[in-house]
Amino acid sequence: MLGNLVVLVILIALVALFGWLTYRAIRAKKMWVKIVGGILGVVATLFFVALTFAMGKGFTTMYMPPSTLDANLKVEGTPEQIARGKYIADISCSGCHDPEKTGALVGGFDMSQEIPIPLGTIVSYNLTPAGVLQERTDGELFRVLRHGVTKDGSLSGFMSFLPYRQLSDEDTKALIAYLRSQPPTPSKSNAPQGTQMNALALLMIGAGMFPIPEPVMGVVTAPAPGENAAYGKYVATFGECRGCHGPQMTGAEPSAADPAGVPDARAFIKNVSREQFFQMMRTGKRPDGSELKMPWENASKMNDADLGALYEYLKAPAETASK
Ligand code: HEC
Ligand code: HEC
Repeated sequence: MLGNLVVLVILIALVALFGWLTYRAIRAKKMWVKIVGGILGVVATLFFVALTFAMGKGFTTMYMPPSTLDANLKVEGTPEQIARGKYIADISCSGCHDPEKTGALVGGFDMSQEIPIPLGTIVSYNLTPAGVLQERTDGELFRVLRHGVTKDGSLSGFMSFLPYRQLSDEDTKALIAYLRSQPPTPSKSNAPQGTQMNALALLMIGAGMFPIPEPVMGVVTAPAPGENAAYGKYVATFGECRGCHGPQMTGAEPSAADPAGVPDARAFIKNVSREQFFQMMRTGKRPDGSELKMPWENASKMNDADLGALYEYLKAPAETASK
């Protein structure tokens, strides 16, 4: 944060400097200095004003996000909660928090290596009781999942982009119960974990290039489980499908963070039967035998009811609202 604050102060200083140089140029006696210096000065000043605004916006987004914290929250940790939490974690969290598929959420996945732009360090945490959980209350864990806001009140770099705001209160508590129930397992390396976004990341966030999802306030409930589109949408949310394929599953254009883009899953599913879909999600092979390159292994752990709901959701017409 301090480094980014310094960059912000330097940008403000540059605005003042170029503003002053522009003023001097306009007041100059020679006509050509007035005109050329004035134009260059105005352009440079506006350039740094724009950078300062983006940086300031990124700064408030990152370090002053809206959130609520229930300091008294205590998750009971019933066997049902633990089992439900494990189910979701195996599908949704293990991809990043168990990168080497050791069966324990030991973290250490350096995501900055996957992104073609230098945005700072982004390393997933050890989520067993040997790691960051020791320093987090149940309320703080609930807040980071619901609002993407970490212990010190700033945005948790990567978690804030993920779809867990839309997980129900019950499922969020189930996840916390499961995380706390695991055997404490140390990470393989002592390399620091967590995220430090650099000034470029803040600039890009401020310029709206990585939109942070809208805050979700109040109680969140899940639709009643069943093989229907409404519940399927919920499964597609915690199953991470919508994070990649877009809120409507209609695909995503290539972007700075993902230069390859993602195909329209709804268009694809039109000619795919329920049985073919199940097989595809469990074997990683399309009906024509070609291999899926997306991370299907986690989704393959979904139970039949959830895969069925997902299928109904993909078959139903896309909604117009984007939530
Ligand atoms: C796409 C990768 C990714 C996925 C999927 C993911 N995480 Fe994370 N998680 C991270 C990274 C990276 C961090 C380090 C801090 C940051 O950037 O947010 C983190 C940090 C955390 C933290 C610590 C946050 C704090 O500072 O208090 C918790 C708790 C957490 N994740 C829980 C989960 C749970 C539970 C799931 C599944 C429901 C999950 N994560 C899924 C990447 C991921
Ligand atoms: C990490 C991003 C990511 C996640 C998560 C993800 N997908 Fe994909 N998906 C892709 C990409 C990229 C492709 C195309 C490349 C490939 O896998 O062959 C794809 C392909 C597909 C296809 C085939 C489309 C085609 O035109 O060939 C379907 C159907 C699909 N995904 C459904 C899902 C469902 C359902 C989920 C959630 C359980 C999901 N995806 C999760 C990125 C993702």
